[in-house]
Formats: sequence, structure tokens, C-alpha cells
Amino acid sequence: MAGSDDTVDAKVVRHAVEVLLRGGLVAFPTETVYGLGADADQPQAVAAIFRAKGRPKAHPLILHVAGADAVGSWARDIPVAAHALMRRFWPGPLTLVLPRGARATDLITGGQDTVGVRCPSNAWAQALIRGLGSARGDKTSAIAAPSANRYGRISPTRAAHVRADLGEKPSGLVDCIIDGGESALGIESTIVDFGEGAVRILRPGSIDRSQLAVAVGEAVRQASDATTAPRVSGRVSGHYAPSKPLELVRPEKLAARVQALEPLALGVLAPSEVLQALRAANLALCIAAGATPQDYAHALYDQLRRLDASAAARLLVAYPPTGEAWEAVHDRLRRAAAGSEGRMPEAD
Ligand code: TXA
Ligand code: MG
Repeated sequence: MAGSDDTVDAKVVRHAVEVLLRGGLVAFPTETVYGLGADADQPQAVAAIFRAKGRPKAHPLILHVAGADAVGSWARDIPVAAHALMRRFWPGPLTLVLPRGARATDLITGGQDTVGVRCPSNAWAQALIRGLGSARGDKTSAIAAPSANRYGRISPTRAAHVRADLGEKPSGLVDCIIDGGESALGIESTIVDFGEGAVRILRPGSIDRSQLAVAVGEAVRQASDATTAPRVSGRVSGHYAPSKPLELVRPEKLAARVQALEPLALGVLAPSEVLQALRAANLALCIAAGATPQDYAHALYDQLRRLDASAAARLLVAYPPTGEAWEAVHDRLRRAAAGSEGRMPEAD
């Protein structure tokens, strides 16, 4: 279904809302990645998400709401810190894991006693959630949505990615794919929980640790894999994986690694100055990585898809710089590398 990048087409949204009301699946853009949405109040529709993705039932979904006012309808005992974070970062790329209310079904929560809630800022996503709310006269309506990719694959940042991965009916799996252009940020939301009285990051994203700490007025920890996996499927090591083996290499060692792998055809993602110094015949595709954490994240999934689709037999990615602002990018690259080796059969 055609749309245009930044201007929301009311007709497209009306059609998508009808699809949701009928219990269908709508792929829609958000500022992070595209979501595969269903009306959160229709269990059959929510179940269809798991079938389309091929995702295990125990992996919870995120509820997308129009604003903080809707949260009380899905969650209870909302901590003061959660209110502070909603005020500061919503609408935006932040998911809060909160004690669940009765309206959040087991299918949404993966049977846990918590529910993940987020309020996206993307204009299409907002129009869709609000449209669903107006159609049924309930402003607290929510869209349950994971990322719109097959389980274990790279998240989509364009409608074309969703078409390639899941496809639109009748030949594909999704009832309606809204084309709202490229996702502005390009990696999934930061997820936090409030377990044990502290704010913890379950999945790093564009909003980083110090930004969160300023908003809540206390230190924020990165949860260890041991405490969160497999509750957060995005934290399973083999997430966001390309189908070809992906290896992370220090930038200064890249040229030597490329040579060592000759004559294997390679796809390389590295800073442009590192690419310029490569002199090898076995380069199938070289892509210049973004120089800032924002640019890097924005382009990453599209670049990984292009490398995966190239003639390369193996992918080499130069480690990005270190530091807090790069944490989310490092996290996704680590998981892509682990998943591509097939080490984690449980991958989301
Ligand atoms: O940016 C995003 O968050 C995108 C867009 C579409 O909103 N969504 C997304 O959904 O990345 P998904 O399902 O691919 O990842 C959601 C993550 C999963 O890792 C899931 O385990 C976690 O959120 N999650 C959801 N509810 C949770 C809960 N109650 N406790 C812990 N983790 C939860
Ligand atoms: Mg996902």
C-alpha cells in the first residue's frame, strides 16, 4: 500500500485501521524500525503475528500506545521513574517494561507478569494508533507489534524490507504494508525495566544510559544477559542476523584479514578511509559505515541486507568506535555476528 515518506495519507491510514479492526496484520513504519501490528484487544489477531513471524509464543510483544494516558489501561503500579521517562522521552524510541494490567493478555506478555509499552513518534504510527482508537471510541487502544521481520532475521527499516521478508497478501503474510519511507533512527527502541527498584536497560537503543540517568535522577545499569535472557528475545545472542557468516574485525586488521581470506568473495562494512586503503580482488561489495552513532545506526540494517544479498560469501565488519553512544550499535553487531554463526538456535 503506497504512502509517501513524511506526509501521512489519511486514506491509507483509514484502510489500515479497517484491516486492524477486522483482525488483520498491518506492517507500519516507526522511527526505530517497521512493526508488524495487530489490534492488541483481539487475541486471534495477536496470535497471527506469531504465525507470520515464525516466532515462539513465549517471546513478548511491545504495545504501541498513542500517549502516556493509555498506559494505565494496560499496566499497573507504574513507578515514579517510569512517569519521569515517559514525560522526557515519549513519544520516542523508549520501551518501558511495567507490571502488567489485566487487559494485557498472556499472548502479549509471553505469560510474564510484566508488559512492554512504547509510544512511537513516527507520524504514520501515531495516526494508525489514534485511528484505531477513534474507530472504536477508546483512546487507550493499542497496537501489539514486534519488528516486522521473520524470526531471527534483520529488522526492517523500509517497506521494501518487509515486502522481501514477509510479503503482502495474497502471496505474502501481511494484510497491509504501509510505506512510510525509511525509519529515521534505524535500530530498535531502548528497553528499560524497573526490577529490584532500579532502572535497568534490557536492550540498548538510541536513548543511551546517561540520558536515562539524567531523566530519572539516578544511575542506570545495563542488565546482564544472565538476568534478562530469554525474557527479551532481542537479547538472545543470535538476533538480527544476516544469513551469511559475519565477522567483526578491528579496523587496523581489516586489510590483512581480507588478504588472508583470498580468494573468498567478501562483503565489507567499514569507515570510508579504511575501505580506500583496501587493495584486493576478492571484494564483492564494500559499504562505507556511518561516521556518527546516529548515521551508523540509521543505515546499518539496510547495509547488512545489501551485503547479505551481494555475491559475497562472507561479511567483514570493522568494529565501530567504542563509548556509550556506540553501545547500541555494538550490541546489534555482536548479535548479528553470533546469529550468523548459528550458535544460538533460539534466535528471535
Ligand atoms: O523499536 C522497537 O522496539 C520496535 C518497534 C516496531 O516498536 N519493536 C521491536 O519489537 O523491536 P521486537 O518484538 O522485535 O522486540 C521487542 C522486545 C523483545 O526483545 C521482547 O522480548 C521485549 O521487547 N519485551 C517485550 N515485552 C517485554 C517484557 N514484558 N519483559 C521483557 N522484555 C519484553
Ligand atoms: Mg525484533
